[in-house]
Amino acid sequence: MKAKELRQKYLDFFTEKGHSVIGSALLVPENDPTVLFTTAGMHPLVPYLMGQKHPEGTRLVNFQKCIRTGDIEEVGDDTHLTFFEMLGNWSLGDYFKEEAIAYSFEFLTSEKWLNLPIERLSITVFAGDDDAPFDEESYNFWIGHGIPAARIAKLGKKDNWWGPAGQTGPCGPDTEMFYWTSDEAPPENYDPEDNRWMEIWNDVFMQYNKNADGKFEALEQTNVDTGMGVERVTAVLQGKSSCYDTELFKPLFEKLTELSTHENPRETRSGRIVVEHIRSAVFIISDGIFPGNLGQGYVLRRLIRRAIREARKLGIETTFTSDLAKVVISTFNDIYPDLAKNAGTISDELSREENQFSATLVNGEKQLMKIIDNVPDFIEKKVISGKHAFKLYDTYGYPLELTVEMAAEQGFSVDEDGFAKAMKKHQEVSKGDGGSFKGGLQDHGDRF
Ligand code: ALA
Repeated sequence: MKAKELRQKYLDFFTEKGHSVIGSALLVPENDPTVLFTTAGMHPLVPYLMGQKHPEGTRLVNFQKCIRTGDIEEVGDDTHLTFFEMLGNWSLGDYFKEEAIAYSFEFLTSEKWLNLPIERLSITVFAGDDDAPFDEESYNFWIGHGIPAARIAKLGKKDNWWGPAGQTGPCGPDTEMFYWTSDEAPPENYDPEDNRWMEIWNDVFMQYNKNADGKFEALEQTNVDTGMGVERVTAVLQGKSSCYDTELFKPLFEKLTELSTHENPRETRSGRIVVEHIRSAVFIISDGIFPGNLGQGYVLRRLIRRAIREARKLGIETTFTSDLAKVVISTFNDIYPDLAKNAGTISDELSREENQFSATLVNGEKQLMKIIDNVPDFIEKKVISGKHAFKLYDTYGYPLELTVEMAAEQGFSVDEDGFAKAMKKHQEVSKGDGGSFKGGLQDHGDRF
């Protein structure tokens, strides 16, 4: 089954169960000031989860574009993406755990719908802690559907609790569904550490509101918020264990193979990062964000620059972002027609950023060569100090990784511990200033 059919089946299934289809909101949240991007289908619905009446009723369904930069370091494995599409159904004070789990079970396993074998499913439920009790109801509903106890894990808040990325708002225990993706027969017991079990769907039971004091108050209206990853489930339905092996990414890798000197970029972490980040960038620009130094624009800049750096590792020296963007647009335009409307802006913004970053790289290299040629102490020891590497990074925007690479070409190494120290010192000073990275950015020390 292709992604297109999956989206439609999901909407049809929940329409049959009395849900109204609502559109995908923009990637930039309008109803939730606690997040930079829409990270899940629930963000645009926050006021309704808190009790406001939704014009379409109490049962809703959609597919939603999402950006999650918290997972950026994991991009390149089989399942983590910064941009993804989420299928979701909501009950706004309507049905609760029993029906939500029954719907999930039916959609996944019924012959009429996804027809996935029960033997390949496992489940996690909330184990309970000081804030909220063990979710025994969910556990019992799954047992009732024939999931063996050995395939149900009880886990803590880290795994089975969902709330918005911000500090406050609607939240509650969740139950997650996993699918065995390996060709080997699935083991009898579910092992949360075994990543051949791929998370495919999450049903959240929003019973609480986390208030500004960090307290969990019971919500007057209990809600259901679910999320199923289109890329992951499409892979599962096609018997693949990687999100990168379906039609959602295939044309992008074909283009990248043409552009690069590498035989099969899909097999490399760099190749996956390049296509993944450019895909995200295209959707973000299409929703009206442009590269910049703050907030969403800064995240976008990091994604584009990271893609450019990784592309260099695949032998791509010329501009390429706009070529890949065209492929993203043609792959998704039937579902998101705004992409074609914004094609000119997308291409212009990507190219501008690409040219600017290329200039940064050229200038950084020049500065580095100056250091290599002119500091006698470094010439003698063949080591570039952390302080100098940090200056290249901080003043000229030249990434440490490239300093290390370029220095090595000249037979030099870089004092990376010294760099880390200089960075730390700088961050402490910035903190004293009130922090240089405002806007909830999660900075991983990887500026570009
Ligand atoms: N909001 C829930 C999630 O993103 C469904 O997993």
